Amino acid sequence: MASSSIKPADLESFQNHLRYSDRVLALCGAGLSAASGLPTFRGAGGLWRSYDAVSLATPEAFARDPGLVWQFYSYRRHMALQAQPNPAHYALAALARRKKGFLTLSQNVDGLSQRAGHPASRLHLLHGSLFDIKCTAFYCNYTESNNFTDPIAPALAIPKGGPSPASLGTATSGAGATESLQHAMHGAGSKPQGGKELDISDDRVEMPEIDAKDLPHCPRCGDGLLRPGVVWFGERLPEKIINEVDNFIEEPKKIDLILVIGTSAQVYPAAGYIDKARAKGARVAVVNMDRADTGRGGLEKGDWFFEGDAGVLVPELLKSEIGDISNTERRAGNREDDG
Ligand code: APR
Repeated sequence: MASSSIKPADLESFQNHLRYSDRVLALCGAGLSAASGLPTFRGAGGLWRSYDAVSLATPEAFARDPGLVWQFYSYRRHMALQAQPNPAHYALAALARRKKGFLTLSQNVDGLSQRAGHPASRLHLLHGSLFDIKCTAFYCNYTESNNFTDPIAPALAIPKGGPSPASLGTATSGAGATESLQHAMHGAGSKPQGGKELDISDDRVEMPEIDAKDLPHCPRCGDGLLRPGVVWFGERLPEKIINEVDNFIEEPKKIDLILVIGTSAQVYPAAGYIDKARAKGARVAVVNMDRADTGRGGLEKGDWFFEGDAGVLVPELLKSEIGDISNTERRAGNREDDG
């Protein structure tokens, strides 16, 4: 993990401001979970097989090829369940327990903030959750939260048994990759590696085509296809969440600070919360690996840019309020309340 790059003067001015801040927002994106090993969307790792991850996150993609889209989401569910919250998730959860006027707005669907003990009443999941499921039949309103079944249907289990993609050599075509896969699995001198999960995010690894009847179906209406309860491109954010966030922003009191953590701030309406908070008086503190990612409005006088890994920087920035994160983590593990 990278070491901190925060200038002492910036740390001091930020922590002074934080100390006297009553109303604080955090807008988080995929970079928050990068230190947990989950890929972001627009940087390296934004490709899933040969697909731009964003292109699979649409109702059109699901209508065209529900099997492929479910394989993508089943893989993401699996990876998210295997990942652990990192110190930044714990730090935000601790701040939320400590500061009543603090609200996290997360674009992440991976469940890591919840697993870090972030109080639910102070966490708004703008883009839903990988672990929410809903029926697609227009006559059925079945929804389910916190479905952690992995795989969600037997056909969506991650295929096992082959070599890791790194050992697939340089074959980049499907046929070449299949050949090296078969060679590695059955060829002379190669050890069988049964039981090892294949990395199906790599398009050199063969992935089975799934029959529509083997995809998850609705337990209520019986014939509707289930889909992940995430907000896809072209869909509206959940109205309840928009209203709750707007109510917070529109309270008569000013907003003191918005933390913008690990997001390219390109996707609206989420990214619009930066300007809305600023319009209510907030100073902006960006935590990002990439100095170019400061949102459309850029930075203004009095803002901060903290360059580096959120997993390192966020606990350090918040330490003056929440103490040492290793202690906080232990406390969070013992608490389930929404305090
Ligand atoms: N620490 C801090 N920032 C990081 C780190 C890290 N370790 N790693 C990457 N980043 C930054 C990148 O520089 C980038 O600015 O995180 C940001 C990730 O940006 P995106 O991949 O665009 O992810 P995000 O902003 O969450 O995307 C928003 O788009 O695809 C949709 O619905 C999806 O919620 C997602 C939304």
